[in-house]
Amino acid sequence: MELREVVVRRRMVRSFTEDPVPREAVDRVLEHAVRAPSAGFSQGWAFLVLDAPDDVARFWAATTPPSRAAAPDRWLLGMRRAPVVVVPLARESAYRERYAEPDKARGGEPQEPRERWAVPYWYVDAGMASLLMLLTAVDEGLGACFFGVPASRVAALRAEFGVPDDHEPVGAIAIGHPAADQAVRGSGGRRRRRPVEEVVHRGGW
Ligand SMILES: Cc1cc2nc3c(=O)[nH]c(=O)nc-3n(C[C@H](O)[C@H](O)[C@H](O)COP(=O)(O)O)c2cc1C
Repeated sequence: MELREVVVRRRMVRSFTEDPVPREAVDRVLEHAVRAPSAGFSQGWAFLVLDAPDDVARFWAATTPPSRAAAPDRWLLGMRRAPVVVVPLARESAYRERYAEPDKARGGEPQEPRERWAVPYWYVDAGMASLLMLLTAVDEGLGACFFGVPASRVAALRAEFGVPDDHEPVGAIAIGHPAADQAVRGSGGRRRRRPVEEVVHRGGW
């Protein structure tokens, strides 16, 4: 598929069929994730891949607030059918370590990444990798949705899968075959896409 077509076709898919996702497609998604750019080439990311039905079920059990699990809405019913969930994680300490190396420690910049950078690059980089995974899913003829893990459920997610303390889940990506019914459109169905002229400030504000 042409890049342009992949970009335009990519919309978040929130309802999946139960058809399995070929292992090669998941592997390609992950191979592309690690092609993402990263600050200082720190690559402070990790990917928890859940592609066995029991593991996916454990993911939803850990991350769904009990009240919502008791009465699943259409979003949850559609998303839970996705055969694959990838949790991208960011590790701040990778950036701290990388930027203490001789080629980065020059120049009198503060050594604390949080002081050195205007924004936390570990989240930026996990986002870059996440977008490559979303685009690769489309290129593989699949659909995907990046979604948030409720803050109140992150501890349960960590405990369930033994996530080390220094790794922070930035969200999750459901991957599978899109169902014909995409009635749950999320915010994208209620808001307009802001046009280029509105968001671009060419040459200044
Ligand atoms: C950081 C981030 C968090 C998101 N969280 C959710 C979420 O929790 N649930 C959901 O259904 N969609 C979520 N989305 C998807 C957005 O709603 C979607 O990208 C937006 O409405 C634009 O639609 P499109 O991606 O289909 O073009 C998230 C997207 C991003 C980038």
